[in-house]
Amino acid sequence: MKKLVFLFLVVLISFGPVRAGEGMWLPILLEQLNEPEMKSMGMRISAEDIYSINKSSLKDAILLFGRGCTAEIISDQGLILTNHHCGYGQIQAHSTIEHDYLTTGFWAMNQSEELSNPGLSVTLLIRMEDVTAKALAGVEPGMSEKARSEKIRENIAGIEKAAIENTHYNARVRPFYYGNEYYLFVTETFNDVRLVGAPPSNIGKFGGDTDNWMWPRHTGDFSLFRIYAGKDNKPADYSPDNVPYVPKRHLNISLKGAEKGDFTFVFGYPGTTQEYLPSHAIEMITGTENPPAIRLRGKRLDIFDRYMNQSDLVRIQYSAKHAGVANYWKKMIGENRGIKRLNAIEKKQKLEQGFMEWASADPLRNSKYGKLVPEFEALYARLSGLNEDETYLIEAALGVEAFRFAYSFSRLVSAAENASGNPEQVGKIIEQLKQTADGYYKNYHMPVDRSVFATLMQDWFEHQESGRIPVELVQASIPYGSNYEAWAKDLFDNSMFADRQKVNELLNGFKTKKVKKITSDPVYKLASGVYNHYFNRLQPELAILNAHTDSLQRIYMQGLMEFQPNRRFYPDANSTLRVTYGKVDDYFPRDAVHYRHYTTLEGIMEKEDPDIYDYVVEPKLKELFRNKDYGRYAAPDGTMRIAFIASNHTTGGNSGSPVLDADGNLIGVNFDRNWEGTMSDLMYDPDQCRNISIDIRYCLFVIDKLAGAGHLVDEMTLVN
Ligand code: ARG
Ligand code: ASP
Repeated sequence: MKKLVFLFLVVLISFGPVRAGEGMWLPILLEQLNEPEMKSMGMRISAEDIYSINKSSLKDAILLFGRGCTAEIISDQGLILTNHHCGYGQIQAHSTIEHDYLTTGFWAMNQSEELSNPGLSVTLLIRMEDVTAKALAGVEPGMSEKARSEKIRENIAGIEKAAIENTHYNARVRPFYYGNEYYLFVTETFNDVRLVGAPPSNIGKFGGDTDNWMWPRHTGDFSLFRIYAGKDNKPADYSPDNVPYVPKRHLNISLKGAEKGDFTFVFGYPGTTQEYLPSHAIEMITGTENPPAIRLRGKRLDIFDRYMNQSDLVRIQYSAKHAGVANYWKKMIGENRGIKRLNAIEKKQKLEQGFMEWASADPLRNSKYGKLVPEFEALYARLSGLNEDETYLIEAALGVEAFRFAYSFSRLVSAAENASGNPEQVGKIIEQLKQTADGYYKNYHMPVDRSVFATLMQDWFEHQESGRIPVELVQASIPYGSNYEAWAKDLFDNSMFADRQKVNELLNGFKTKKVKKITSDPVYKLASGVYNHYFNRLQPELAILNAHTDSLQRIYMQGLMEFQPNRRFYPDANSTLRVTYGKVDDYFPRDAVHYRHYTTLEGIMEKEDPDIYDYVVEPKLKELFRNKDYGRYAAPDGTMRIAFIASNHTTGGNSGSPVLDADGNLIGVNFDRNWEGTMSDLMYDPDQCRNISIDIRYCLFVIDKLAGAGHLVDEMTLVN
C-alpha cells in the first residue's frame, strides 16, 4: 500500500497531467482531446472550425514554407505572411550592393513587381488520417527489429501510393510516439512563390542576433510572399503567365490585439521536440554535445563579426550565415541553462525510478519493460563518445566552408574516374557545379574562411586526442606544430578552391584527365578525409546505436503510456501540422524581475543606436512615433504594440505560424521563444516558457504607414 501511494506521488509530482500551454496537438484529434479545455480557456470557435474533413477550415490557410517555416494565407489572391527570417534567404538572394533589399526593404507596388524565387515552395495539407493499423499490419510481437521495419516500410509505401492515385498531390506517412502510431499526410505543393514585401532589416531583424531568443523584443520579423498557380488554379512551375492562387480559405485579421489572460492558439509546423527521452539522453545533449558546439560556434561568430564590421560587402555575404550559426549557438546556451534550472535530469531520473518499480511489480510488465532503463544507460554511455566526435566533425571541420564546397566536387571525380565512357554525365555535373560555384563565391570571402579554419582546427586539436580526429587532418597538421595560422596560410595559398578564377578555369575547360587537379588539391584531400571519416567510421556505428535507441524509445514510450494512464500524452514535433494553445502571459525570469507581456514602439526608441547596424531606427519611423501617427493600428491605450508573449508550446519550424485569437482571427505571427524557455524542446516549464509573436497591428502599420504599400492591406480581410 505504502508503495502504491509513493508511486502515485512520484507520478503526480514529477509529471502530472499536461499543464495548459504544454503540448503540440494533432488537428484531427482536437475535438476528442482538447476542445473542452480550449473552450474552458476562452476559445469561441470549435475544433471543426480549425480542422474539418468536410468543409473548408482554418487549416486550408496554413502552409509549410520552404523547408522549415510556417506561413499563412491572408488574402483571396494568395498573399502569404511569414517571418522576415524565414524569407531571409530569398531577400538576400535578390540583394546586391546597388539594390540592398536587406538594408532598405523591398515592396512590390503591383503584382508585376513581385520577384520569383527558384527553389522556394509552399505546401498545403489536404488531409491527414490515422493509418496505424494499416502501417503495422503483419507486425508480430516476436519479430526482429529489422523484419519489423521492413514490413512497416512496405506497408507505408502501399498506403502512400494508394492515397494519391490520379491526383497531383503528395503523400507521406510519418511515425508518431516513436513508431507506436502512424499518420498519413496528403499535401499539395506550389513552386511559384514570389516575394511581395519585406521591411528593412532595421525593422525585420531589429536587434539582430543580440536580441535573438530574448524577451523583451522589438523585432518586426515578417515578410510577404504570394502563391502563383496555373490558370486552372493548380500548382505550376514558374511562368510569367501564372496567376495569383485563389485559396479555399484565407485568415481574417483582427486589430483588437490580445491582453494578459486572453486565449490564443498557434497553428503551424513545429520541427522537432524530444519530450520523452530518458535522463541519459538529456545528460548527453547538455553535457557532451552542446558545450563544444557552443564554444566552436562562438569562435566562428567572432571571426564573422570582425570581418563583417569592416566591409559592407562581407556584411551582406555573411549575414545569412551569421544568423544561421548564431541562432543555434544561442539556443543551446539557453537550453543548457534551462535544463539545469529545471533540474530536468533529476526529474527524469525520478520518473525512471518510479517506472522501474512499477515495471518490476508485475511479471509481464517486468519482462517487457524491466530492463529498459539499464539498457538506456549502457547505450548512451557508448553513444556519448560517438556523438561528441560527430559534434566536433560537424562544428569544427564542416564549419570550414571550403571543405563543404570542395567535397561537392567528389561527384565529378567519381564520374570522371570510372566513367570516361560517359561524357554526358560528366557534362551535366559540370553544369551543376558551375551553378553551385556561382552561389558559393557570391557569398564567399576567403580570409574569413582561412581564419575560421585556423581557429577551429586549433580548438579541435586542443580538445580531442588525435585518434578521434580524421587522420588526414592530423597528418597534414604535423609540419606546422601548433602554428595553425601558418597551416591555414599554406593550405589556402595552394588550393584552387580559394580562388574563383581557378575553379572557373577548371570547370570551363574540364577534361577527364584533369581530374588529378581536383584530387591532388590540398583542400579537397582534407575534405575527403573528413567526409570519409564520417561515412566510414562514425556513421555506421552511429546508425547501429541509433537504431537500437529508437526501438528502446518506442518500447519506453509505450511503457510510459501504460505507467501514466491519466497523463495526456502529445506526440513529439516532427514537422507535421499541429495546434498549440495557451494564454497571453507575462513571467518572472529571475528573482525580483518581472517581464510584461507586450512591448511598444517606445522600446524601439530606447534601444536605438545609430552606430550599431542592428539598432538603427529610420527617420520615417521616428517621425511616425513623434506624431503618434498610428492610425487604426494603435492599441486602445494609444501605443503602438510591437510584440507579445504567450504560453503556447512552440519550437523551430513554428516561425511564421499564425497566432489566432478566441475567434480564430489572426492577431500575430509567431517568430521566437524567450531564452529562459528554450529547453522546452526537451522539457516544458509553464512558468518560464513563452512564445514570442509580432503584433499584427505593427505588421500592418509598417506595410501601410511606413512602406506606403496600403494596397496590400486593402487586399486583406480586417474584421474589426
Ligand atoms: N530564434 C528564432 C528562430 O529560431 C529566430 C532566428 C532568426 N533570427 C536571428 N537573429 N538569427 O528561428
Ligand atoms: N525561431 C524559431 C523558428 O524559426 C521558432 C522557435 O524556435 O521558437 O522556427
